[in-house]
Amino acid sequence: MENKRVLLASRPAGWVTEENFRLESAPIPAPAEGEVLVRNLWLSLDPYMRGRMSDAKSYVKGVDIGEVMVGQTVGEVVESRHPQLKKGDKVLTQLGWQLYGCAREATLIEASKAPLSYHLGILGMPGITAYFGLKEIGQPKPGETVVVSAASGAVGSVVGQLAKLWGCRAVGIAGGAQKCDYVQRELGFDACIDYKAGNLHGALEHACARGVDVYFDNVGGETLDTLLRHMKLFSRIVVCGLISDYNATTPYGLKNIRAMLVNRIRMQGMIVFDWKARYAEALEALAGYVSQGRLKYRESVVEGLENAPQGLIALLKGRNFGKQLVKLS
Ligand SMILES: NC(=O)c1ccc[n+]([C@@H]2O[C@H](COP(=O)([O-])OP(=O)(O)OC[C@H]3O[C@@H](n4cnc5c(N)ncnc54)[C@H](OP(=O)(O)O)[C@@H]3O)[C@@H](O)[C@H]2O)c1
Repeated sequence: MENKRVLLASRPAGWVTEENFRLESAPIPAPAEGEVLVRNLWLSLDPYMRGRMSDAKSYVKGVDIGEVMVGQTVGEVVESRHPQLKKGDKVLTQLGWQLYGCAREATLIEASKAPLSYHLGILGMPGITAYFGLKEIGQPKPGETVVVSAASGAVGSVVGQLAKLWGCRAVGIAGGAQKCDYVQRELGFDACIDYKAGNLHGALEHACARGVDVYFDNVGGETLDTLLRHMKLFSRIVVCGLISDYNATTPYGLKNIRAMLVNRIRMQGMIVFDWKARYAEALEALAGYVSQGRLKYRESVVEGLENAPQGLIALLKGRNFGKQLVKLS
């Protein structure tokens, strides 16, 4: 048995490339008192990882050159010196891009309730983000129109479906006819706009003729700027992610901020960690909807740790279709 891990080799300037990573072999570590040794089974790939590859100041410290890439994993305990965990337990950890690692903090997963990978997606961080971002920051009321970008993705797909479950009209924005078709037909949104087809403004006029009450923004840039022109009086914008800017060397820069003044729009940033004390509430609600078949979900899986860099690059370019994961075993 051998451990393999992916390190940050260099910081990207603009788009991430495979040269920014280094795959290496390493010994399997031994757990210290209070730790578990975990064999990782699934690695989550998330857009925030682009930010951690940079040394720009953010809400969490970035990865240093030569360190294992950061990431959430689901794995199996192979050896335990932890008071509450035993060999064979399935756990959620932050062990990053490696096959084996030791963890002091590991959350036990009830493996019988849902596929293990769900704990990195719909029953994990992205699902929780969608739940609190929409409920607490978007504050949608029945009958209102909720628009969400990156609508076929891990966060966006849950936002739109929750909006429907909570009595709203849901309009998605996604890249390409195939994703839009899935969002509308499979996920049950009322409409989905293909922003890559051009004329987002005209399409929004058509799909949201009476304006937008809540915009859940996953992408920033030109899409956010265009939405500003469609927001209603006292509407809300949830700033969840700015993926269109993550690889840009110069930020887009909004032009339509005047709309915030005129329409008294409330625009608020959202970081999922701020809701840590209430994660159980979101997970209970999401698990209930999933088990009742009322929340649908889709995954994009890359096989093998060595292909994780390609997986992240594909995610940042929008080539994923659903929650992006790496299957490690
Ligand atoms: N604040 C928080 O606590 C928090 C937590 C989780 C995630 N997030 C943010 O939420 C957003 C979605 O994350 P996710 O994990 O659910 O990823 P995802 O939506 O599954 O995947 C990312 C999607 O972004 C879209 N995209 C990529 N480049 C784009 C561009 N230039 N313009 C417009 N869309 C683009 C692509 O979809 P299309 O093909 O449809 O363009 C791509 O599939 C990200 O911005 C992420 O950083 C924030």
